[in-house]
Amino acid sequence: MQTRIVSIQQGLIEAVELIKNGDIVVFPTETVYGLGANAFDGGAVRKIFEAKGRPMDNPLIAHIADISWIDKLAVDVSDCAKAVMNEFMPGPITVILKRSKDVPDEVTAGLDSVGIRFPSHPVARQFIMACGVPLAAPSANTSTKISPTSAQHVFEDMQGRVPLILQGGACEVGIESTIVDMTADIPTILRPGAITQDMLARVLGKVKNYDGQIIVAKAPGMKYKHYAPSCEMVVATSAESASEEYIRQNKKGLATVILAKRDYLEGIDGVFDLIDLGESDEDAMRNIYAAMHEAQNKYDYIVCQDFGQDGLGASIMNRINKASGGKRI
Ligand code: TXA
Ligand code: MG
Repeated sequence: MQTRIVSIQQGLIEAVELIKNGDIVVFPTETVYGLGANAFDGGAVRKIFEAKGRPMDNPLIAHIADISWIDKLAVDVSDCAKAVMNEFMPGPITVILKRSKDVPDEVTAGLDSVGIRFPSHPVARQFIMACGVPLAAPSANTSTKISPTSAQHVFEDMQGRVPLILQGGACEVGIESTIVDMTADIPTILRPGAITQDMLARVLGKVKNYDGQIIVAKAPGMKYKHYAPSCEMVVATSAESASEEYIRQNKKGLATVILAKRDYLEGIDGVFDLIDLGESDEDAMRNIYAAMHEAQNKYDYIVCQDFGQDGLGASIMNRINKASGGKRI
């Protein structure tokens, strides 16, 4: 199969046709690129799992183009859930709601809930609206690889597995949506993202953070190692330890790079290969996956800054900890 990258102007009609015929199409969102299929067509949704090499017990998010579409997918939507959706949609958030029986098991992995997201990216909105049906879509990477934040990332990873990639530029947010389970007694964050716990608490009053220990996996995805670059990666607890590790690994013959914000190594002597993640945590969130893509193509070993556990830092660290397997120096 040939894979083509096309603009929405060139490709909209063809892309919609593919979806209507039960095929898969990659589209941009403000978080990461998604690999979409008609959420009401179980056979089409299976193609997503095949193309990604994803285990079938990991459910998908249904992407909508208008708030009113919620009614096609979910039942018993609480006032709290409505408040969250009114505040943050369209945007980088996924709400878990009680599923409607119209949603096929391929999407929900047989759970009685469904994840719903209304992306803000104009290309995503135009495409989903033109399809006229919700699109089930995971991130458009093969299973265990880093999520793509550009059409080129998708192409490098998924070439030959998908016919069409809609071009949408670099993703503005850069990490996957915040997932909040609105079916729990206290709304629970299953995956941190750009919509932080504080922001949710302002709307909900009370919100829980998913706290590690997985007894019954609520987000089945949590039990899989995700977002891993193809080379080794560690988190440095300080700029000093980053520079020491850099020197140590280079001496061993491993081409090493440091991923950090611009001012990180200020005051430390030495010349370092550095991928600049920008100035703010927001910049770092936008750039982190692109930096991992670049690093794994050019280097053997990645040393990454610790972003702490406040606000967006916690969301960035969630992805970095997965990529590094929790290794710290
Ligand atoms: O930003 C995003 O959310 C991107 C873009 C493409 O929208 N999508 C994305 O999808 O990250 P994916 O499949 O890579 O991650 C979705 C996560 C998985 O870990 C899955 O287990 C969880 O959402 N999930 C989906 N439906 C669920 C449900 N009903 N209950 C609990 N977790 C669910
Ligand atoms: Mg993913």
